[in-house]
Amino acid sequence: MSDHATTHAEAQERIRACADLEALKEVEREYLGKGGLVAQLLASISKASPEERPQVGKRANELKQAVQESLESRRRDLSNAHIESERRGQGFDASLPPPRLQRGSLHPVTQVTRELEDLFQSMGYQVLDGPEIETDHYNFEALNIPADHPARDSHDTFFCEGTGHLVMRTHTSPVQVRAMEKFEPPFRIVVPGKCFRHESTDASHDHTFHQMEGLVVDRDISVAHLIGAMKTLLQGIFGRDLEVRLRPGFFPFVEPGFELDARCPFCEQGCRVCKRTRWIELLPCGLVHPNVLRAGGIDPDEWSGFAFGLGLSRLVMLRHGIDDVRHLLAGDVRFLEQF
Ligand code: PHE
Repeated sequence: MSDHATTHAEAQERIRACADLEALKEVEREYLGKGGLVAQLLASISKASPEERPQVGKRANELKQAVQESLESRRRDLSNAHIESERRGQGFDASLPPPRLQRGSLHPVTQVTRELEDLFQSMGYQVLDGPEIETDHYNFEALNIPADHPARDSHDTFFCEGTGHLVMRTHTSPVQVRAMEKFEPPFRIVVPGKCFRHESTDASHDHTFHQMEGLVVDRDISVAHLIGAMKTLLQGIFGRDLEVRLRPGFFPFVEPGFELDARCPFCEQGCRVCKRTRWIELLPCGLVHPNVLRAGGIDPDEWSGFAFGLGLSRLVMLRHGIDDVRHLLAGDVRFLEQF
Protein backbone atom coordinates (compact mmCIF):
# COMPACT_ATOMS: atom_id res chain seq x y z
CA MET A 1 0.00 0.00 0.00
CA SER A 2 1.35 3.44 -0.84
CA ASP A 3 1.93 6.08 1.84
CA HIS A 4 -0.98 7.90 0.42
CA ALA A 5 -3.42 5.04 0.84
CA THR A 6 -2.14 4.28 4.34
CA THR A 7 -2.77 7.86 5.43
CA HIS A 8 -6.33 7.72 4.15
CA ALA A 9 -7.04 4.37 5.75
CA GLU A 10 -5.58 5.54 9.02
CA ALA A 11 -7.71 8.67 9.03
CA GLN A 12 -10.83 6.67 8.37
CA GLU A 13 -9.95 4.18 11.08
CA ARG A 14 -9.39 6.98 13.63
CA ILE A 15 -12.65 8.66 12.74
CA ARG A 16 -14.68 5.44 12.95
CA ALA A 17 -13.24 4.84 16.41
CA CYS A 18 -14.45 8.18 17.75
CA ALA A 19 -17.11 7.61 20.41
CA ASP A 20 -18.34 11.18 20.70
CA LEU A 21 -18.23 14.65 19.16
CA GLU A 22 -15.29 15.70 21.39
CA ALA A 23 -13.12 12.89 20.05
CA LEU A 24 -14.11 13.84 16.50
CA LYS A 25 -12.95 17.41 17.08
CA GLU A 26 -9.58 16.14 18.24
CA VAL A 27 -9.08 14.12 15.04
CA GLU A 28 -10.27 17.06 12.97
CA ARG A 29 -7.61 19.26 14.57
CA GLU A 30 -4.88 16.70 13.86
CA TYR A 31 -5.71 16.43 10.20
CA LEU A 32 -7.25 19.74 9.18
CA GLY A 33 -6.09 22.17 11.88
CA LYS A 34 -3.16 24.59 11.78
CA GLY A 35 0.00 22.51 11.60
CA GLY A 36 -2.14 19.43 10.94
CA LEU A 37 -1.31 16.76 8.42
CA VAL A 38 -2.94 18.48 5.47
CA ALA A 39 -1.24 21.77 6.32
CA GLN A 40 2.11 19.97 6.55
CA LEU A 41 1.58 18.39 3.16
CA LEU A 42 0.75 21.76 1.62
CA ALA A 43 3.81 23.32 3.25
CA SER A 44 5.99 20.59 1.77
CA ILE A 45 5.05 21.64 -1.75
CA SER A 46 7.68 24.38 -1.75
CA LYS A 47 10.36 21.83 -0.88
CA ALA A 48 9.32 19.34 -3.54
CA SER A 49 10.85 19.24 -7.00
CA PRO A 50 8.89 21.04 -9.72
CA GLU A 51 7.75 17.68 -11.19
CA GLU A 52 6.49 16.42 -7.84
CA ARG A 53 4.66 19.59 -6.85
CA PRO A 54 1.35 18.96 -8.62
CA GLN A 55 1.31 15.46 -7.16
CA VAL A 56 1.85 16.68 -3.61
CA GLY A 57 -0.84 19.34 -4.01
CA LYS A 58 -3.28 16.81 -5.32
CA ARG A 59 -2.61 14.44 -2.44
CA ALA A 60 -3.11 17.21 0.10
CA ASN A 61 -6.47 18.11 -1.41
CA GLU A 62 -7.64 14.51 -1.67
CA LEU A 63 -6.75 13.86 1.95
CA LYS A 64 -8.54 17.01 3.07
CA GLN A 65 -11.69 16.08 1.20
CA ALA A 66 -11.69 12.47 2.37
CA VAL A 67 -11.20 13.44 6.00
CA GLN A 68 -13.96 16.06 5.79
CA GLU A 69 -16.40 13.54 4.34
CA SER A 70 -15.61 10.89 6.93
CA LEU A 71 -15.96 13.41 9.77
CA GLU A 72 -19.31 14.53 8.45
CA SER A 73 -20.68 11.04 8.12
CA ARG A 74 -19.43 9.98 11.57
CA ARG A 75 -21.00 13.10 13.06
CA ARG A 76 -24.36 12.15 11.55
CA ASP A 77 -24.10 8.60 12.86
CA LEU A 78 -23.24 9.78 16.36
CA SER A 79 -26.17 12.20 16.43
CA ASN A 80 -28.62 9.55 15.20
CA ALA A 81 -27.32 7.14 17.78
CA HIS A 82 -27.82 9.81 20.43
CA ILE A 83 -31.48 10.29 19.45
CA GLU A 84 -31.97 6.51 19.37
CA SER A 85 -30.61 6.07 22.85
CA GLU A 86 -32.78 8.94 24.16
CA ARG A 87 -35.76 7.18 22.68
CA ARG A 88 -34.91 3.94 24.34
CA GLY A 89 -34.22 5.77 27.58
CA GLN A 90 -36.49 5.53 30.60
CA GLY A 91 -39.84 7.29 30.44
CA PHE A 92 -39.78 8.01 26.73
CA ASP A 93 -42.94 6.88 25.02
CA ALA A 94 -43.38 8.03 21.43
CA SER A 95 -47.07 7.10 21.54
CA LEU A 96 -47.84 9.67 24.25
CA PRO A 97 -49.37 13.01 23.15
CA PRO A 98 -47.07 16.05 23.30
CA PRO A 99 -47.30 18.37 26.34
CA ARG A 100 -50.62 20.20 26.43
CA LEU A 101 -50.80 23.79 25.27
CA GLN A 102 -51.70 26.17 28.08
CA ARG A 103 -55.08 27.45 27.02
CA GLY A 104 -57.42 29.91 28.61
CA SER A 105 -61.15 29.31 28.89
CA LEU A 106 -64.30 31.36 28.76
CA HIS A 107 -65.61 32.86 31.98
CA PRO A 108 -68.48 30.76 33.38
CA VAL A 109 -70.84 33.74 33.00
CA THR A 110 -69.82 34.06 29.34
CA GLN A 111 -70.40 30.33 28.83
CA VAL A 112 -73.92 30.47 30.26
CA THR A 113 -74.67 33.68 28.35
CA ARG A 114 -73.67 32.12 25.04
CA GLU A 115 -75.69 28.96 25.69
CA LEU A 116 -78.79 30.97 26.50
CA GLU A 117 -78.29 33.26 23.51
CA ASP A 118 -78.26 30.16 21.29
CA LEU A 119 -81.33 28.77 23.00
CA PHE A 120 -83.34 31.98 22.66
CA GLN A 121 -82.18 32.59 19.11
CA SER A 122 -83.53 29.14 18.25
CA MET A 123 -86.89 30.42 19.53
CA GLY A 124 -86.76 33.49 17.31
CA TYR A 125 -85.40 36.00 19.82
CA GLN A 126 -82.86 38.66 18.85
CA VAL A 127 -79.91 39.30 21.14
CA LEU A 128 -79.59 42.97 22.07
CA ASP A 129 -77.14 45.11 23.94
CA GLY A 130 -77.78 48.30 25.86
CA PRO A 131 -75.78 51.02 27.61
CA GLU A 132 -74.45 50.30 31.11
CA ILE A 133 -74.73 53.98 31.95
CA GLU A 134 -78.41 54.81 31.60
CA THR A 135 -80.56 57.87 31.84
CA ASP A 136 -82.97 58.19 34.73
CA HIS A 137 -85.69 58.04 32.09
CA TYR A 138 -84.91 54.53 30.78
CA ASN A 139 -83.79 53.02 34.06
CA PHE A 140 -86.82 54.24 36.05
CA GLU A 141 -89.27 56.68 34.51
CA ALA A 142 -90.24 54.80 31.37
CA LEU A 143 -90.51 51.59 33.40
CA ASN A 144 -93.38 53.05 35.36
CA ILE A 145 -91.15 53.91 38.32
CA PRO A 146 -91.81 57.65 38.86
CA ALA A 147 -89.47 59.80 40.94
CA ASP A 148 -91.50 59.49 44.13
CA HIS A 149 -92.32 55.81 43.70
CA PRO A 150 -91.31 53.64 46.68
CA ALA A 151 -89.85 51.04 44.28
CA ARG A 152 -86.87 53.34 43.74
CA ASP A 153 -85.76 52.56 47.27
CA SER A 154 -85.27 48.92 46.40
CA HIS A 155 -82.76 49.91 43.76
CA ASP A 156 -79.83 51.31 45.62
CA THR A 157 -78.38 53.15 42.73
CA PHE A 158 -74.97 54.52 41.72
CA PHE A 159 -75.76 58.00 40.44
CA CYS A 160 -73.17 59.54 38.14
CA GLU A 161 -71.94 62.61 39.97
CA GLY A 162 -72.64 65.98 38.44
CA THR A 163 -74.82 64.66 35.59
CA GLY A 164 -78.13 64.84 37.42
CA HIS A 165 -79.76 62.21 35.24
CA LEU A 166 -77.23 59.44 34.54
CA VAL A 167 -77.08 56.22 36.56
CA MET A 168 -75.22 52.92 36.36
CA ARG A 169 -78.16 50.80 35.24
CA THR A 170 -79.63 48.81 38.13
CA HIS A 171 -81.15 46.18 35.85
CA THR A 172 -81.33 45.25 32.15
CA SER A 173 -85.01 46.29 31.95
CA PRO A 174 -84.26 49.74 30.43
CA VAL A 175 -83.42 47.90 27.19
CA GLN A 176 -87.09 46.82 27.05
CA VAL A 177 -88.10 50.40 26.30
CA ARG A 178 -85.15 51.00 23.98
CA ALA A 179 -86.21 47.92 21.99
CA MET A 180 -89.85 49.09 21.82
CA GLU A 181 -88.66 52.39 20.37
CA LYS A 182 -86.47 50.62 17.85
CA PHE A 183 -88.58 47.72 16.57
CA GLU A 184 -92.06 47.44 15.17
CA PRO A 185 -94.00 44.75 17.01
CA PRO A 186 -94.17 41.81 17.00
CA PHE A 187 -90.62 41.12 18.27
CA ARG A 188 -88.74 39.03 20.80
CA ILE A 189 -85.47 40.00 22.43
CA VAL A 190 -83.03 38.90 25.11
CA VAL A 191 -80.49 41.28 26.61
CA PRO A 192 -77.57 39.88 28.56
CA GLY A 193 -75.46 42.38 30.45
CA LYS A 194 -73.95 43.88 33.57
CA CYS A 195 -75.99 45.67 36.22
CA PHE A 196 -74.85 47.67 39.22
CA ARG A 197 -76.21 48.28 42.67
CA HIS A 198 -74.90 50.35 45.48
CA GLU A 199 -75.33 47.88 48.29
CA SER A 200 -73.15 46.24 50.91
CA THR A 201 -71.64 43.10 49.44
CA ASP A 202 -71.91 39.60 50.88
CA ALA A 203 -71.92 36.03 49.59
CA SER A 204 -75.09 36.63 47.59
CA HIS A 205 -74.79 40.34 46.71
CA ASP A 206 -72.19 42.12 44.65
CA HIS A 207 -72.12 45.69 43.34
CA THR A 208 -71.80 44.28 39.82
CA PHE A 209 -73.69 41.27 38.52
CA HIS A 210 -75.19 39.86 35.33
CA GLN A 211 -78.77 39.61 34.18
CA MET A 212 -80.52 38.53 31.03
CA GLU A 213 -83.64 40.46 30.22
CA GLY A 214 -86.29 38.91 28.03
CA LEU A 215 -89.15 40.67 26.27
CA VAL A 216 -91.79 39.44 23.86
CA VAL A 217 -94.26 41.86 22.31
CA ASP A 218 -97.05 40.40 20.22
CA ARG A 219 -100.85 40.25 20.00
CA ASP A 220 -102.81 38.57 22.79
CA ILE A 221 -99.85 37.57 24.93
CA SER A 222 -100.92 35.75 28.08
CA VAL A 223 -99.33 34.20 31.16
CA ALA A 224 -99.53 30.85 29.35
CA HIS A 225 -97.00 32.12 26.76
CA LEU A 226 -94.74 33.25 29.56
CA ILE A 227 -94.89 29.88 31.30
CA GLY A 228 -94.29 28.06 28.01
CA ALA A 229 -91.15 30.10 27.28
CA MET A 230 -89.84 29.61 30.82
CA LYS A 231 -90.33 25.84 30.65
CA THR A 232 -88.33 25.76 27.42
CA LEU A 233 -85.66 27.83 29.15
CA LEU A 234 -85.49 25.33 32.03
CA GLN A 235 -85.30 22.44 29.58
CA GLY A 236 -82.36 24.20 27.93
CA ILE A 237 -80.53 24.90 31.19
CA PHE A 238 -81.10 21.65 33.06
CA GLY A 239 -81.75 19.31 30.14
CA ARG A 240 -85.16 18.13 31.31
CA ASP A 241 -88.72 19.23 31.99
CA LEU A 242 -89.20 20.83 35.38
CA GLU A 243 -92.47 21.77 37.01
CA VAL A 244 -92.88 25.51 37.62
CA ARG A 245 -95.01 27.61 39.94
CA LEU A 246 -95.85 31.31 40.04
CA ARG A 247 -96.02 33.44 43.15
CA PRO A 248 -97.19 37.04 43.06
CA GLY A 249 -94.31 39.51 42.84
CA PHE A 250 -94.33 43.27 42.58
CA PHE A 251 -92.44 45.14 39.89
CA PRO A 252 -93.94 48.43 38.65
CA PHE A 253 -93.23 47.58 35.00
CA VAL A 254 -95.25 44.34 34.93
CA GLU A 255 -98.89 43.65 35.69
CA PRO A 256 -99.48 41.00 36.85
CA GLY A 257 -95.99 40.38 38.21
CA PHE A 258 -94.60 37.04 39.41
CA GLU A 259 -91.74 35.23 40.98
CA LEU A 260 -91.30 32.03 39.01
CA ASP A 261 -90.00 28.98 40.87
CA ALA A 262 -88.89 25.68 39.37
CA ARG A 263 -88.72 22.23 40.88
CA CYS A 264 -85.27 21.75 42.38
CA PRO A 265 -83.24 20.00 39.67
CA PHE A 266 -80.76 18.65 42.24
CA CYS A 267 -82.87 16.54 44.58
CA GLU A 268 -86.00 14.52 45.21
CA GLN A 269 -86.53 15.17 48.90
CA GLY A 270 -85.03 18.59 49.54
CA CYS A 271 -81.38 19.63 49.68
CA ARG A 272 -79.06 22.47 50.59
CA VAL A 273 -79.58 24.25 47.26
CA CYS A 274 -83.39 24.41 47.57
CA LYS A 275 -83.16 24.86 51.34
CA ARG A 276 -85.31 21.74 51.74
CA THR A 277 -88.28 23.39 49.99
CA ARG A 278 -87.98 21.38 46.71
CA TRP A 279 -88.37 24.70 44.83
CA ILE A 280 -85.72 27.07 43.56
CA GLU A 281 -86.41 30.69 42.74
CA LEU A 282 -85.68 31.06 39.07
CA LEU A 283 -86.67 34.58 38.02
CA PRO A 284 -89.05 37.50 38.34
CA CYS A 285 -91.38 38.04 35.40
CA GLY A 286 -94.79 39.26 34.34
CA LEU A 287 -96.95 40.77 31.63
CA VAL A 288 -95.68 44.11 30.40
CA HIS A 289 -97.49 47.04 32.07
CA PRO A 290 -99.51 49.15 29.58
CA ASN A 291 -97.66 52.28 30.75
CA VAL A 292 -94.37 50.73 29.67
CA LEU A 293 -95.72 49.86 26.22
CA ARG A 294 -96.96 53.43 25.94
CA ALA A 295 -93.58 54.82 27.02
CA GLY A 296 -92.04 52.73 24.22
CA GLY A 297 -94.49 54.13 21.67
CA ILE A 298 -96.58 50.95 21.41
CA ASP A 299 -100.37 50.93 21.62
CA PRO A 300 -101.36 48.70 24.59
CA ASP A 301 -104.84 48.19 23.12
CA GLU A 302 -103.32 46.44 20.14
CA TRP A 303 -100.18 44.85 21.57
CA SER A 304 -99.23 43.03 24.75
CA GLY A 305 -96.15 41.30 26.04
CA PHE A 306 -94.31 39.42 28.72
CA ALA A 307 -90.94 40.17 30.28
CA PHE A 308 -88.54 38.36 32.56
CA GLY A 309 -85.28 39.17 34.32
CA LEU A 310 -83.00 36.17 34.64
CA GLY A 311 -80.16 36.50 37.15
CA LEU A 312 -77.20 35.10 35.20
CA SER A 313 -74.81 35.33 38.13
CA ARG A 314 -77.20 33.35 40.29
CA LEU A 315 -77.71 30.78 37.56
CA VAL A 316 -73.96 30.24 37.20
CA MET A 317 -73.69 29.78 40.95
CA LEU A 318 -76.50 27.25 40.89
CA ARG A 319 -74.97 25.34 38.01
CA HIS A 320 -71.47 25.06 39.47
CA GLY A 321 -72.33 25.01 43.17
CA ILE A 322 -70.48 28.31 43.78
CA ASP A 323 -71.23 29.62 47.26
CA ASP A 324 -70.07 33.23 46.93
CA VAL A 325 -71.10 35.54 44.09
CA ARG A 326 -67.98 37.66 44.62
CA HIS A 327 -65.78 34.89 43.15
CA LEU A 328 -67.27 35.62 39.74
CA LEU A 329 -65.66 39.03 39.34
CA ALA A 330 -62.66 38.73 41.65
CA GLY A 331 -60.39 37.73 38.75
CA ASP A 332 -58.60 35.02 40.72
CA VAL A 333 -57.12 32.58 38.19
CA ARG A 334 -57.27 29.71 40.67
CA PHE A 335 -61.04 30.11 40.55
CA LEU A 336 -61.28 30.77 36.82
CA GLU A 337 -59.03 27.87 35.80
CA GLN A 338 -61.71 25.46 36.98
CA PHE A 339 -64.03 26.26 34.06
N1 PHE B 1 -85.65 44.25 36.41
C1 PHE B 1 -86.10 43.51 37.56
C2 PHE B 1 -84.98 43.52 38.62
O1 PHE B 1 -83.84 43.56 38.28
C3 PHE B 1 -86.43 42.07 37.23
C4 PHE B 1 -87.59 41.91 36.31
C5 PHE B 1 -87.42 41.91 34.93
C6 PHE B 1 -88.87 41.72 36.82
C7 PHE B 1 -88.52 41.74 34.11
C8 PHE B 1 -89.94 41.55 35.99
C9 PHE B 1 -89.77 41.57 34.63
O2 PHE B 1 -85.27 43.49 39.77
